[in-house]
Amino acid sequence: DAPTPDFEHVPHPAPTPDAARDEALKDPGFGTLFTDHMVVVDYDADKGGWHQAVLGPRGPITLDPAAAVLHYAQEIFEGMKAYQQEDGAIALFRPDANARRFNDSARRMAMPELPEALFLDSIRQLVAVDRKWVPTIPGGALYLRPFMFASEAFLGVRPARQYKYILIASPVGGYFKSGAPAVKIWVARDYVRAAKGGTGAAKTGGNYAASLVPQAQATAKGCDQVVFLDAVERKWVEELGGMNLFFVFDDGSVVTPPLTGTILPGITRDSLIQLLCEEGLTVREEPYSIEQWRDDAQSGRLLETMACGTAAVVTPVGTVLDGDTEFTIGSGGPGQLATKIRNRLVGVQKGTIADTHGWVTHI
Ligand code: COI
Repeated sequence: DAPTPDFEHVPHPAPTPDAARDEALKDPGFGTLFTDHMVVVDYDADKGGWHQAVLGPRGPITLDPAAAVLHYAQEIFEGMKAYQQEDGAIALFRPDANARRFNDSARRMAMPELPEALFLDSIRQLVAVDRKWVPTIPGGALYLRPFMFASEAFLGVRPARQYKYILIASPVGGYFKSGAPAVKIWVARDYVRAAKGGTGAAKTGGNYAASLVPQAQATAKGCDQVVFLDAVERKWVEELGGMNLFFVFDDGSVVTPPLTGTILPGITRDSLIQLLCEEGLTVREEPYSIEQWRDDAQSGRLLETMACGTAAVVTPVGTVLDGDTEFTIGSGGPGQLATKIRNRLVGVQKGTIADTHGWVTHI
């Protein structure tokens, strides 16, 4: 790895008073509350790469209106959580996997890689400074949002020569406003999220922008989330707007769509595959069609469908709406396996279940 800069620490001159922070942490919602500090690291191809790292007060950033990200969307991000442990320690879940995926995304978007040590150090240092912002409420966590974008002022279409890496932190509760025990899903028939050879496997803002209109359709139809089908045959189930899917059958097998380049390689997805295998289930990464999904739900062969992600953890899918046709999975409520595997995952993350995989890192 190239040499990485040391962090300059600039403490917040007027941090949030303890009482106001603790009040806000009682019901943090998702993604609207932020901690006092942030990390900013600058990259300049002409100054030897990553050259200035500051952990300072969180606040607005200055950007030239010609900054390449505003025109051609050279941007990537990550999502991960820091968890309060019962003994007062704070733990991260598989941060090395996020560091690796960040660089996978960077390569796809023609951006410089961030040394993994710098990524991990930024996370550790920000969480340490803002440790009082980690929620202690059940289901709460400090959501960490590392991101990188092209900051060079230049209107030609080519990879930028200047970037900013920023890390912010947001105390969160559950992702779904409704707190619904099971979500309702709308099948996108007019839109696709990603095609082979595109950017679907990269965690880049454009994929999420592409999901907004179909997501708005889903909301208009009374659904919580949209599910995308493959771009070619419009047949194979891919993923939700920001979550991977698992299908649970009555013969003890589980299917999840394979990583063929059009879906996001979720870290929760990867963890669930391992945990489900340890539960004695047979997990297959193979294509699953929308027709099969409906038929299996109606025949009762399909017991459960689970959506998973860092933000959503494990969320049961209760109902699917495809045009005018609606089908219900199992009882339409949370299934046994979703509840069991969610508790297992959260237990490892919170330190109440032994971490046999070496997934948990204490700060
Ligand atoms: C996640 O962190 O789980 C995401 O994919 C981002 C978004 C759904 C909040």
